[in-house]
Amino acid sequence: MQAFLKGSAVQSVRAQKDKTSSSSSAGAERKTRAVPWVEKYRPKCVDEVAFQEEVVAVLKKSLDGADLPNLLFYGPPGTGKTSTILAAARELYGPQLFRQRVLELNASDERGIQVVREKVKNFAQLTVAGSRPDGKPCPPFKIIILDEADSMTAPAQAALRRTMEKESRTTRFCLICNYISRIIEPLTSRCSKFRFKPLANQIQEERLLSICEKEELKYSRESISALVQVSEGDLRKAITLLQSAARLSMDREITETSVIEIAGVVPPKTIDKLLQVCFRGTFEKLEVVIRELVDDGYAATQILTQLHDAIVEGHLSDKQKSAITEKMAVVGKCLLDGADEYLQLLSLCSLIMHQSNN
Ligand SMILES: Nc1ncnc2c1ncn2[C@@H]1O[C@H](COP(=O)(O)OP(=O)(O)OP(=O)(O)O)[C@@H](O)[C@H]1O
Ligand SMILES: [Mg+2]
Repeated sequence: MQAFLKGSAVQSVRAQKDKTSSSSSAGAERKTRAVPWVEKYRPKCVDEVAFQEEVVAVLKKSLDGADLPNLLFYGPPGTGKTSTILAAARELYGPQLFRQRVLELNASDERGIQVVREKVKNFAQLTVAGSRPDGKPCPPFKIIILDEADSMTAPAQAALRRTMEKESRTTRFCLICNYISRIIEPLTSRCSKFRFKPLANQIQEERLLSICEKEELKYSRESISALVQVSEGDLRKAITLLQSAARLSMDREITETSVIEIAGVVPPKTIDKLLQVCFRGTFEKLEVVIRELVDDGYAATQILTQLHDAIVEGHLSDKQKSAITEKMAVVGKCLLDGADEYLQLLSLCSLIMHQSNN
């Protein structure tokens, strides 16, 4: 069965990954508790992927024997991109062939131009048979998954262009990224693009409820709504938070307050108070309130997001809102770059103060 595979360098990447994945699945039976729920409830087949109908339809056609185009998945985190392609590949090839036919490289692997020239190109050049060891037919191509492709350098992306065309007889590429604008145009034009939407509240709620049932958790209706609310369409975040909340409450019921506490959301009252000081208070008061917020350990980015929502929905004029949100963008960038949280918040709030007093 190995006859058509000439490369062994390829195998080592996968071998390393398989070691971790197989040991975790073998251990899953014995110590179910040790597995993070996001992994435990990762869709095993394409049908289990929720809310992404277009891509599921295309993949199902190719499972039925149709050809598969090169794919480009993009969208926010935790919406099922990685899970979808892994599930599809598993269904296409079965667990045995999967290792030989699929090369998965993500941001944790070196993916500079050198790797594209050697590893990807070599893997793409291998030819493959059209049947599985168990006799079932399988597609006569391999799949190269480039996860988190937006972190690939531009020269590495450029090096992919010709490989993608030349090896189209034997290889399909699946590029996955959060920000499609970071993928160079020649690559996007070679792929069928699929946008993964943030999951609808209703769908998230159903998923969470089914997990609660399987894990035999006690929960209140409000706590599930709160989970959906704070995770903003990111199912991974919702499931992770649910697991933390379950650990925290042990045998007691999961409550809305514990969810909010774990999610690190600033209580709406605190945000209100901050805004009141901006609108009516003095600069000295503002300094004190912001110092308290930072000392309480709330993340500045979280405060920024909540302030943003409050300002956008608030009573200020359009002109004031636009000035404030522009400043928010700058502050957001500075925070990402590691600037001081206290100073950034102070600078933003003093601008809000200035604007609202005009
Ligand atoms: N559409 C979905 N259907 C079912 N489960 C989902 C879906 N989206 C996310 N999940 C859950 O969230 C987890 C993470 O999903 P996945 O790794 O596919 O996200 P992703 O889109 O690749 O995110 P990232 O951009 O951060 O890599 C999965 O293990 C699964 O439990
Ligand atoms: Mg992913």
